[in-house]
Amino acid sequence: MVGTANAMFLSGHDFHVLLWVSVVAGVVALLAGAAVGTALSRWSHELQDEARRFGESGEFTAGRHGPQELQAISEELARTSRRLQESRQREARLEDSRRELVAWVSHDLRTPLAGLRAMTEALEDGIAEDPSRYHRQIRSEVDRMVRMVDDLFELSRIHAGNLRLSLEPVMLGDLVSEAIASADPVARARGVRLGGGVEEGLEVVADSAELSRVVGNLVMNAIRHTPSDGLVEVVGRSGPDGVELSVTDGCGGLSEEDMARAFDVAWQGSQARTPDVTGVFGSGAGLGLAIVRGIVEAHHGTVSVVNHAPGCRFRVQLPAPA
Ligand SMILES: Nc1ncnc2c1ncn2[C@@H]1O[C@H](COP(=O)(O)OP(=O)(O)OP(=O)(O)O)[C@@H](O)[C@H]1O
Ligand SMILES: [Mg+2]
Repeated sequence: MVGTANAMFLSGHDFHVLLWVSVVAGVVALLAGAAVGTALSRWSHELQDEARRFGESGEFTAGRHGPQELQAISEELARTSRRLQESRQREARLEDSRRELVAWVSHDLRTPLAGLRAMTEALEDGIAEDPSRYHRQIRSEVDRMVRMVDDLFELSRIHAGNLRLSLEPVMLGDLVSEAIASADPVARARGVRLGGGVEEGLEVVADSAELSRVVGNLVMNAIRHTPSDGLVEVVGRSGPDGVELSVTDGCGGLSEEDMARAFDVAWQGSQARTPDVTGVFGSGAGLGLAIVRGIVEAHHGTVSVVNHAPGCRFRVQLPAPA
């Protein structure tokens, strides 16, 4: 500026004024730059400290300081922190249910194993009064344990994402008829009536063995929780959201907590845990509905439960065949 002013043949007075203006403007610009620079460096240090604390504690609260760009970074970090916390809570819940499962399964295995040992010892010592009854009991206990191990294996395949489905068109009516036919002797023995029906020609694309397991588990649960002379209804129909299969029983209704946790691994109701010692209805370890949910979700479907007087209704929703 000084060079240019010199070249402009300005008067000495004007030249001095210009010089002063330039000096003052320069000083003001320097001060403003320094102020903005200091503030920026302070804000970015604060953000750096907060990010460091986030790394240490896993918690981040978005501070409202600095220019918009820094605030945007800070808000993004706060969002990440919230997602991290949610996934940590989910992990903790999973860990809890895994721990619960191991505890319950060891409990449910230890009890029949103790019984088996006592029975085989009695047989060995020749003090069993009715050996054939002992043999039958041993057989049914072994069957129940085999079912439990089988359920655990299925559940571990589901959780590991190793469930290989061989999808094919399945006639839902045939599948439900088979499930009802195999559950019929148990229902008769309990005095429970089995009814319902499936829409003519209703088809789903599914793994028939896995879907049979779903229907079998739901029907067995329904029979187990329905008093004698009660009715269990299995209905299949096509709805707006695909194919719907419902199993309605006469269990007398479920509490909010039972409905929320019924599909959790090892959950057996808010009442005292009373495993089914006969083993007729499954392993009796609270795995049946967790397996149902795993299989249904692997088919891109959903499963839910609602109260429906005089009992409750388990509803499986599967996508309609393309
Ligand atoms: N149809 C039903 N009516 C009422 N309660 C039910 C019904 N089905 C399940 N429940 C409740 O949900 C719990 C979990 O059911 P789930 O099938 O997972 O386990 P389980 O039947 O106890 O054992 P498993 O199926 O492993 O033999 C049951 O213990 C019961 O309390
Ligand atoms: Mg069950």
